[in-house]
Amino acid sequence: MTDPLVIFMPSGKRGHFPSGTPVLQAARALGVDLDSVCGGRGICSKCQVQPGSGSFPKLGVTVAPDALSAVNAVERRYDEKRGLKPGRRLGCQATVQGDVVIDVPPESQVHRQVVRKAASGRAIVMDPATRLHMVTVEEPDMDAPSGDLERLRAALADQWDLRDLAVPLALLRGLQAALRKGGWQVTVAVNHDENRISAIWPGLREAPVLGLAVDLGSTTIAAHLCDLSTGAVLASGGVMNPQIRFGEDLMSRVSYAMMNTGGDVEMTAAVREALDRLAVELAAEAGVPPGDILEAVIVCNPVMHHLLIGVDPVELGQAPFALATSDALRLGAEEIGLAALGPGARAYILPCIAGHVGADAAAVALSEAPDKTEALTLIVDVGTNAELLLGNRDRLLACSSPTGPAFEGAQISSGQRAAPGAIERVEIDPATKEPRFRVIGCDLWSDDPGFAAATEGTGITGICGSGIIEAVAEMRMAGIVDAKGLIGSAAQVGTPRCVAEGRTHGYLLWEDGDRRILVTQGDIRAIQLAKSALYAGARLLMDEAGVDGVERVVLAGAFGAHISPRHAMVLGMIPDAALDHVTSAGNAAGHGARMALCNRAARAHIEALVRRIEKVETAVAPRFQEHFVAANAIPHATDPFAHLAG
Ligand code: FES
Repeated sequence: MTDPLVIFMPSGKRGHFPSGTPVLQAARALGVDLDSVCGGRGICSKCQVQPGSGSFPKLGVTVAPDALSAVNAVERRYDEKRGLKPGRRLGCQATVQGDVVIDVPPESQVHRQVVRKAASGRAIVMDPATRLHMVTVEEPDMDAPSGDLERLRAALADQWDLRDLAVPLALLRGLQAALRKGGWQVTVAVNHDENRISAIWPGLREAPVLGLAVDLGSTTIAAHLCDLSTGAVLASGGVMNPQIRFGEDLMSRVSYAMMNTGGDVEMTAAVREALDRLAVELAAEAGVPPGDILEAVIVCNPVMHHLLIGVDPVELGQAPFALATSDALRLGAEEIGLAALGPGARAYILPCIAGHVGADAAAVALSEAPDKTEALTLIVDVGTNAELLLGNRDRLLACSSPTGPAFEGAQISSGQRAAPGAIERVEIDPATKEPRFRVIGCDLWSDDPGFAAATEGTGITGICGSGIIEAVAEMRMAGIVDAKGLIGSAAQVGTPRCVAEGRTHGYLLWEDGDRRILVTQGDIRAIQLAKSALYAGARLLMDEAGVDGVERVVLAGAFGAHISPRHAMVLGMIPDAALDHVTSAGNAAGHGARMALCNRAARAHIEALVRRIEKVETAVAPRFQEHFVAANAIPHATDPFAHLAG
């Protein structure tokens, strides 16, 4: 007689097993994704399954009511104490008695899919590096002396087939107390990416293990606190990067390090302190101890990268822009100042692509996965230094472009960071040349009734990066600015909003008494320089790739989320493409960080991908200057922008 047939759903994996085989054992034999922390002791409930009943014609099976063993004492005790959903069984206790179809619910799967990013980004499939394993450790025996750690290692090898795990001294210090408190049972957190133990608790650990995904930008530090078993984001937040006091943009921070002895050490201390504080704040918001955070994944540009790990960034300020290392880094969290995390917590920093194209660009590549598409894709991560990726599944190139801080509202006469009160959207009527606008923190347009009352609290304080881009593009479309970027006079344009400013003109966007927001000729020049650098970088990549156009443009970065594709193209920030093929990926670097936090295979993938990305250095490419000059015109001196027609 053949052994009973066991079919697991939704995977459809099937096999024959001798009567009496525990469901968990059958699942493991077939490679079915069924979780377990307690190793089959009937106490963690991670292995819950739902057996089917009746006829399954498509599967060719009929399941008898007694296809699984009756509920045993362990399951009954668990059910009485903690409760099992109707029909659910513990996979480690229920044994196979006849042909059976077993559904593994999502919450019992380790590799569940937890999130699909709204835009083009990849879904995150859970496969965290850190997993929990409960073990029973032999008690010490005077007749066979051995250390507690050695017996713990033997138990992990025996019960979980885990060998040669590294154990940090900080955890060894607490091992004896944990073993005795837990009655010789402990739960061990193992970082499988590094084959090392990252925490030990007495008995069964039921609280979630946490991880931090960090996008360390030169302006802001943003982080998500995630449950590493479910992938859920428990808290999100950001702080300003305190290094701003040493320099607004990256190069001024490199200069600070060059000109001031110990300047790099000061900046390292500042960013580490801010990051550690952010971890504490997010843990408090989620109502969990920061010590439960066992992993941090960090993405950042090369200068931030070096300052975080305590390497003087001076080499990044001059050709040939050599990185101290471009490899991914696996470090103790405390080594980079994350002192509030668990004592065995680890930090993973994604690999850098090149001296000016950092781990943040690698994270964007992970999130947007241009290497998995046919379409030739240009990804633009706009910040003080734009990072660009161009390619598809055949080939991928990367460069950075020195756009400067104009796109973030700096170097603009009324410019400011994106904050309540800043003008973020602008429209100009091409006939009347009259503007209307919206400010951050208010849903109304400036000509809507109630706008004045709605903005009474914040006021109108300036214009942010997306606002100035829209303003300049709208001025171009309304004929206020010509293709060279010159603002016309009141007489030429036909509006009193064009006011004389010395020997040039400005466009009056708003005024109230003696307060006004004027777009000056200098502002237009600053935007022209920034957009020319961005476009020249893209063109250089296209030259290297041997193409004249791109099929898809992805605007990444928090700022990218606010740029309207049409305005970006009117300005000539990006190459011509069908407008519906220009999309915003939001904070793709942050999403990439989350992917690497929640899925350990994503780390191996990005490490391999970065090795095959071709790096193009804009600073020494002779054609960059040529492209830069041609891109000064709005939208461009020579390149056609066919999709803007009409
Ligand atoms: Fe823990 Fe079944 S494996 S309850």
